[in-house]
Amino acid sequence: MDDEKLITTELVLTAEIYNKNGELQVDDLPADLRKHYWNNKEATVKRPVNITAKDLAELYGIQNAVEIAKSLPFLEYEAFGSKLQLTVFDLGAKWLAKHEQGTEHIKNNPVLAHFYENYESVDVSYEEASKKNEPKEVSRQWIDSLITQISGEEGSEDVLKLAHIIVPEEIEQTLDQLVLNQDQKDEVEKMVKAIQFRDYLTKIGLVEIGKLLFVGPPGTGKTSTARAMSDKLQIPFVEVKLSMITDQYLGETAKNIDRVFELARGLSPCILFIDEFDFIAKTRSSDEHAALKRAVNTLLKAIDNISLVKHGVLLIAATNHPQLLDSAAWRRFDNIVDFPLPDEEMRKKIMEFVLAEIDGTFDAAEIASITAGYSGSDLRMVVREAVLTALMVDRLVLTQDDLTRAVDEFNKRNSFHYIPEDET
Ligand SMILES: Nc1ncnc2c1ncn2[C@@H]1O[C@H](COP(=O)(O)OP(=O)(O)O)[C@@H](O)[C@H]1O
Ligand SMILES: [Mg+2]
Repeated sequence: MDDEKLITTELVLTAEIYNKNGELQVDDLPADLRKHYWNNKEATVKRPVNITAKDLAELYGIQNAVEIAKSLPFLEYEAFGSKLQLTVFDLGAKWLAKHEQGTEHIKNNPVLAHFYENYESVDVSYEEASKKNEPKEVSRQWIDSLITQISGEEGSEDVLKLAHIIVPEEIEQTLDQLVLNQDQKDEVEKMVKAIQFRDYLTKIGLVEIGKLLFVGPPGTGKTSTARAMSDKLQIPFVEVKLSMITDQYLGETAKNIDRVFELARGLSPCILFIDEFDFIAKTRSSDEHAALKRAVNTLLKAIDNISLVKHGVLLIAATNHPQLLDSAAWRRFDNIVDFPLPDEEMRKKIMEFVLAEIDGTFDAAEIASITAGYSGSDLRMVVREAVLTALMVDRLVLTQDDLTRAVDEFNKRNSFHYIPEDET
């Protein structure tokens, strides 16, 4: 019950301080409270925040709100609304300050840190607490609220069928779990800096930044890297496949393109990821009529009109078939990032990542040496195959033999597999 008293007091004080102090923003609330009390329509946590027995149960699994209130001299349980009320604020504030774990809790709670910063005997900083607290922008709730607002505007519900939106907290593979070469790392880092120093870039007029084209064979990590940047930058990820927004009614295609770019602006700062970018080339070379051309031109113009520095939209396009793109398309990008098939060293590292959570002893270097021409995604498939084969005999521990056999299987099934000349 000791811990429960502490958590309850923290919660009640946080609500009280947040309610009374209009300077405090919704981002100052600890992420779990913010999520719990979130108001989707208003895209914020509305004041006043009340603490009910139900809140305590839902947030922390605390069932005995009544007893807790009774045991603390500054709390009262108001049966009518099943609310917990702070009767003597100063007493509660003092109690938390004196509690041996009080400071630890305050340090992770910007609302409390803001109050206790000027309180004798508690050594905390509001700035430090804010840095530790997850911002609202990374959460699904925040994006859903923005989408609710955008959808209120006419015709925009359709856009959500065209684009797939992912928020940073949903990203599965982070940058440090991807095996990238130095060039790739540098390009990612440049974009991180460009976003961080957006104001500076605006000031010096350097606005032609933030349009990347990822080029390389399938399964080399283009999509994963773009997504991981969303985690790194802590901004949402808007993903569209060009084949998906190309409507059989070509007039709609141009509209879809505009809708998607409009959505990205609405969610800014964000990453707009356009996959299968070569799809525009396909429509181009087929000599269908003017409507096709119009759609392509709409896309190129939309790309011209969006800017990382001005609109906070980082544009990343990806293609497996760069040879299909003409100069009009290439010109739109200020940086081309090459995603080659991984070399032996990279394959070894990728294997190590994929095998990290799997029981058994392996020689990742040996697998790397017999998998020339494999993409990162091929390597994952090899491991998946090995795992499933072992599972058929209920075996949870993998052996090197399982892996080499899975490579053999993979080669048989993909006898057309391409092997670069310098690795044969
Ligand atoms: N360099 C790499 N490092 C780690 N994993 C990789 C790498 N390249 C590909 N993968 C894995 O292969 C799968 C497919 O990658 P993906 O990003 O979809 O490739 P692409 O978009 O280039 O077709 C993902 O699960 C990804 O994690
Ligand atoms: Mg992809």
